[in-house]
Amino acid sequence: MTDKINLGFIGAGALATTLSVAFEQNGFHITAVSSRRFESAKNLAERLDQCRAVVDNQEVADSADLVFIATPDDVIPSVASQVIWRKGQMVVHCSGADPVDILNPAKKAGSQTGVFHPLQTFAAGLDENLKGITFAVEAEEPLLTQLKEMAQILGGNWIQLKSKDRAIYHAAAVFACNYLVTLADIAANLWESIEVPRDKAVLALLPLMRGTINNIESIGVTNSLTGPIARGDSGTVKKHLAALDNIDPDITKLYRELGLNTIPIAIGKGKLDKSQAEDIERILKQPILQPECE
Ligand SMILES: NC(=O)c1ccc[n+]([C@@H]2O[C@H](COP(=O)([O-])OP(=O)(O)OC[C@H]3O[C@@H](n4cnc5c(N)ncnc54)[C@H](OP(=O)(O)O)[C@@H]3O)[C@@H](O)[C@H]2O)c1
Repeated sequence: MTDKINLGFIGAGALATTLSVAFEQNGFHITAVSSRRFESAKNLAERLDQCRAVVDNQEVADSADLVFIATPDDVIPSVASQVIWRKGQMVVHCSGADPVDILNPAKKAGSQTGVFHPLQTFAAGLDENLKGITFAVEAEEPLLTQLKEMAQILGGNWIQLKSKDRAIYHAAAVFACNYLVTLADIAANLWESIEVPRDKAVLALLPLMRGTINNIESIGVTNSLTGPIARGDSGTVKKHLAALDNIDPDITKLYRELGLNTIPIAIGKGKLDKSQAEDIERILKQPILQPECE
């Protein structure tokens, strides 16, 4: 049934670009696309076959069987309430954290509503990041089956989520994705403080980050942990704390928090015994003693 339906996109940003191009490559027709600025809709429509760029979100809704609301999360409720939806039409949003009921205006009009959240990061509008990813889907039948099939057509897997679980699901994704960027930024900043240019720092740190991710894939999270906490090198941890504290006490706080969360992983790996773990925990919790002024 999936290859017969027409799709429309409200919002023409990073996600809409990736999804619409990928759906078209898999035999779907994208009828129309709208966005806040016509220019964005036009740019996306030009990449698609026989797709109209329109100024009015209503035109997208009127032209498609299944409408993706691919605007920023905070805009989804106002789009859902401004459009006049048809009975039997399908409407989904792609937010990770928001519940399906922000689409209730569409549901009240007799549309089927759902969520189709690709667990992936789309910064460059490229479609190659879709293979093997997981889509978190939520809807009532028959839309639920439709969304599961669409996830598989794009080469992905699906998990079914309840609205009440979406915030935790998405917070976890923020740790794994956004805060990885934050950690890369912190690492590059620290190298800049010792006069390594930022581009060189990023270039040097990337293989380390990639190697870690590859290890997680091949040997799992726990076995991938290396470094001073995994080895029980408390002296090294002390040195880190003292050095970081000289540069930025807020970064020391973060190092402590992450370190404390790393101890159970090191214990799980079986490399850290109880007394080593207690020693490192004490070091991570105790304040740095600054040398007294004479
Ligand atoms: N990017 C990701 O990695 C990612 C991953 C998974 C899920 N998502 C979800 O996908 C959705 C879109 O995110 P995004 O990253 O693609 O955002 P984005 O790149 O900022 O694009 C948002 C688009 O919505 C348009 N827009 C804003 N207000 C509008 C309105 N009232 N009517 C019609 N269009 C409007 C914007 O128009 P202009 O271009 O004209 O300003 C823009 O084209 C969000 O729900 C997000 O949570 C994103």
